Amino acid sequence: MTTTAGRAHTDPHAEAGAHDDLRVQLDAQRAACPVVRAADGTVTLLAHADVKAAALDAATFSSAVSAHRALPNSLDGAEHRAYRALIDAYMTPTEVAAQEPQCREHARAIVGALPRGVTVRTVLDIGTPFAVRAQSTWLGWPAAIEDELVAWVADNREASRSGDRAWLAEVADRFDAIITRLLDARRDGSADDVTARLMRDRVDGHALPDSEIVSILRNWTAGDLSSLAACVGVIVHHLASDVALQDHLRALITAGRTGDVEDALEEILRIDDPFVSNRRVTTRDVTVGDETIKAGTRVVLNWTAANRDPEVFDNPDAFNPAAHAEDNLVFGIGPHVCPGRALTLMELRVIIGELLAQTTRITMSRERGPIRERPPVSGWAKVPIVLDPA
Ligand code: HEM
Repeated sequence: MTTTAGRAHTDPHAEAGAHDDLRVQLDAQRAACPVVRAADGTVTLLAHADVKAAALDAATFSSAVSAHRALPNSLDGAEHRAYRALIDAYMTPTEVAAQEPQCREHARAIVGALPRGVTVRTVLDIGTPFAVRAQSTWLGWPAAIEDELVAWVADNREASRSGDRAWLAEVADRFDAIITRLLDARRDGSADDVTARLMRDRVDGHALPDSEIVSILRNWTAGDLSSLAACVGVIVHHLASDVALQDHLRALITAGRTGDVEDALEEILRIDDPFVSNRRVTTRDVTVGDETIKAGTRVVLNWTAANRDPEVFDNPDAFNPAAHAEDNLVFGIGPHVCPGRALTLMELRVIIGELLAQTTRITMSRERGPIRERPPVSGWAKVPIVLDPA
C-alpha cells in the first residue's frame, strides 16, 4: 500500500478473504487512508464527512455511472427530480400506513408457523418470505409468483457475492422478464393495484414506456427483496446477541412506541450496514481531503464504512440512537436519499415486532453458529436462532 499524506492508493476488495467481516477491513482501511484508489482508477470514499459531502454535491458527483438508464438511480438534476416526484408519491406516510395491516398479517403468519425450541433460519425462513410477501401485496402481484421471487432473491445474492458481472446481468434480465409478464397481465386496464397505477402514471405529462416501468419496479424490488431480508438478518443477529437490548425493544413494542422502535432498528443497521455502497462519476476535477480526483473518475460512496467512522460516532459499535440518528447514513443522504426508507422501517418494525411479541427470548442456535457474508457483501448470510415461546 502506498500512502500520500494519510490518503492511500489501494483497493479494499483486493484484501477480500483476509477477513470475513467487511466491516473489519473497512475500519482498518478508513483509519489508514479514507480515500482509496483501485488499480482501475476507481476511487472509494470511506470517511463519513467525504461520503456525505459527495452525496450532497450531486452536480460534481453524478449518478450517471453507466450507459444503462436506471430510474431514478442513474438520473441527475431536473430529470431526476421529475422521476423522484412520481416515485415519492407511492411512498408517502399515508401509502406506507395503508400497507401496515397486510404486512402485519404476513409477519404474524410467518412467525406463528415457525417451530419453537429448535433451530430456525432467520434470512431464509423469516426475512426472505416476509420481504417477498410484503412486497407482492404492496405491488398487487399474485401469490403464485412468490416461489419464483424467492429463488430470484437467492440467485441475486449468489451473483452479488461472486461479483461476476455477466451473472449479475443474467439475473437482472430474468427479473425484467418476470416484471414484463406482470405488466402484460394488466394491459386490459381492469387492475387497480400499485403496478397498474404506475402503468397509468405520467412524468412531465408523458406516459411511461414499458422499459421505464420495468426499470422503476426493478429498483423498488431490488431494494425491497434482497436488502430487506439482509436487514432482518442483521437485526435479529444483533438482538439474539444482546439480550438486554432485546428486552428493551420488547418493552418499546409493548408500549407502542413506534418511533423509538424504528430509531433503534436504524441504529442497529448503522452499526452493521448491509447496504454497502453506491456509485458516482465526477463531472469536474475535485479535491477530497488531499486527493485530487479528475473529471470522469468513478467514485464509490461506502455507506458501511462511513456509518462506522469514529470521527463522527465516538464508539461506532455502541448502540445509541439518540446520539447517532442525525448522522446515520443507512438510507443515504441528498437528492438520491432512499425513497423507501419509511416503507422499510415500517416493514422491519412489523416483522421484528412480531418476532419479539411472540417470544420471551430469541437466542443464537447452539447447534450451528451464524455465518457472515463474505466481502464485497456485508451483513449475515446465515443467522440460525431458537425462539422461546411467549
Ligand atoms: C431495505 C433496506 C434499504 C436500504 C438500506 C436502502 C438504502 C438506500 C440508499 C443508501 C440509497 C441511496 C443511493 C444513492 O445515493 O445512490 C437508496 C436509494 C434508493 N432506494 Fe433504498 N434502501 C432500502 C430499501 C428500499 C426500498 C424498500 C425501496 C423501494 C420500495 C427502495 C428504493 C430505492 C430507490 C428507488 C433508490 C434510488 C433513489 C434515487 O436515486 O433518487 N429502497 N436506498
